[in-house]
Amino acid sequence: MPDALSLSHVSKSFGGVCALRDVSFAVQTAEVHALVGENGAGKSTLINIVAGAVQADAGDLRVRGDAVVNPSPATMRSLGIAVIHQHPSLFPHVSVAENIALGWEARRPAALINHAERRRRAKDVLERIGARIEPETDAGHLSFAQQQLVEIARTLASDASIILFDEPTAGLGVDDAQRLFDLIRMLKQQHAAIVYISHRLEELPAIADRISVLRDGLLVATRAMNELSSDAIVSLMVGRDYAEQSVRSGKAGALADLSVVSNSSTPVTTAQAANAPGPPSAEGPRPAAPLLELKSLTCSASGVRDVSLSMRAGEVLGIAGLVGSGRTELARTITGHDRADMGELLIDGRPRTLRSPLDAAALGIGYLPEDRRRDAVIGEMTVSENVNAATMSGPGRAPSLLGLSVQDRESAAATAAIKRFDVRPPSAAALVSSLSGGNQQKVAIAQRAAARPRILILDEPTQGVDVAAKAEIHRIIREMAASGAGVLMISSDLGEVLSMSDRVGVMRGGRVVAILDRAEATPEHVMSLAVGGVA
Ligand SMILES: Nc1ncnc2c1ncn2[C@@H]1O[C@H](COP(=O)(O)OP(=O)(O)OP(=O)(O)O)[C@@H](O)[C@H]1O
Ligand SMILES: [Mg+2]
Repeated sequence: MPDALSLSHVSKSFGGVCALRDVSFAVQTAEVHALVGENGAGKSTLINIVAGAVQADAGDLRVRGDAVVNPSPATMRSLGIAVIHQHPSLFPHVSVAENIALGWEARRPAALINHAERRRRAKDVLERIGARIEPETDAGHLSFAQQQLVEIARTLASDASIILFDEPTAGLGVDDAQRLFDLIRMLKQQHAAIVYISHRLEELPAIADRISVLRDGLLVATRAMNELSSDAIVSLMVGRDYAEQSVRSGKAGALADLSVVSNSSTPVTTAQAANAPGPPSAEGPRPAAPLLELKSLTCSASGVRDVSLSMRAGEVLGIAGLVGSGRTELARTITGHDRADMGELLIDGRPRTLRSPLDAAALGIGYLPEDRRRDAVIGEMTVSENVNAATMSGPGRAPSLLGLSVQDRESAAATAAIKRFDVRPPSAAALVSSLSGGNQQKVAIAQRAAARPRILILDEPTQGVDVAAKAEIHRIIREMAASGAGVLMISSDLGEVLSMSDRVGVMRGGRVVAILDRAEATPEHVMSLAVGGVA
């Protein structure tokens, strides 16, 4: 039987950058084939070629054995190929039901389409993936992760037989990810051919049959999944022994951090001990006010309800919760994107009103939004311009520090960021839109770090980045906290929340239902609070 999908000797360059070199790759019917590689290795490019969105410079593309001569998005769709892109691509001003309908109506005569059926099918397929999303909602009103779920629903509704997932779990929690894996297993039983891209290597053994590794555009290995340990996979990805790599790239510290993250605890800050301020007593000194305090903060429009919490200087406060629990909405309220209509926000004990993101920035609040492309980086600007965006004309900026011109300093900052995060290609003049997803995320983080905010709100800071970049981002977060900033970190990666946070707030239904000390914050406890189990 021919492979469901095969690429032979495919190459693709963008300008001077070679994204794929002579790649041969195939996926069979009833197979889940994992595709991994560092940020910028060429994974999304391969997917885009199969989707018909990018034309290969050379090579051969076959579906069920037949050569596809002129691959366009429409042709590839008609051959039963569906792609779940790294970045959701829904129509924002159109309802969820209509977005999902686009997945299956393409194959039907228009006369048979009606609104009720669209709604029913959307509801159906959303239920199948366990997404709590109203079909009538405009897609543009959904969070990033919810959009990802709708994108998955749309693909399922299309009855495609060859499905390519580009990091579908990057913004999903354990719960949603598990449901997705169940679905993938079911699709496989129904003889679908599946390509699955992820940086979460630990999830692969549970779903993948084979794995292929891309390195710098070359396909360096295709093996049975159970033949490779995750260390072996990482070594193939980076091209040499993993431990050796950390020494050679001068990143011993960053990579050593990985073990810190998984095994030991970060030092407990004094902030934790002093967290219950209580009324000032006549005898003792009055405890310093928290850096950030929320008292019954409510934003009715976005569903943030009655949130009270405090964060001290030097503290990492993690926020866990399911997709749709209100985490992103809380971040948007604290950063002036949505206006609170009740409750208080205090900085250093002083009540503040945030009318806009500018107000928040002026008060030293930095923000990394989860939707990278829409808000976190500016694709039409260069890496250097993005890294320096927040500091470009700030008041703290001496005009001729050490005799360096503004341009010199900007390019020095960009070069340092590129080196620190290993941004590829290492060019300060590259447009950010030309970088791979993970490399864009590195630039977004570098910019927030360069701005040195006192309060930093991070929404999914490590989504889509590879193992080494993740360690580097964790290091930056710790450094910023150690230098006195307060970091509020939202993440769907529960391991990340538990290992990085001094305390963990758990959200459900727009509320913070608990704030746990590090010692109490076990995965089981956090999950049961997040889904509404025992407190
Ligand atoms: N439109 C484009 N213009 C210029 N360069 C591009 C373009 N698209 C991709 N590239 C380059 O091709 C290379 C491969 O990118 P690709 O997006 O395929 O990586 P990836 O493996 O998906 O990485 P990530 O894990 O970060 O998503 C990168 O060096 C990227 O900068
Ligand atoms: Mg990609």
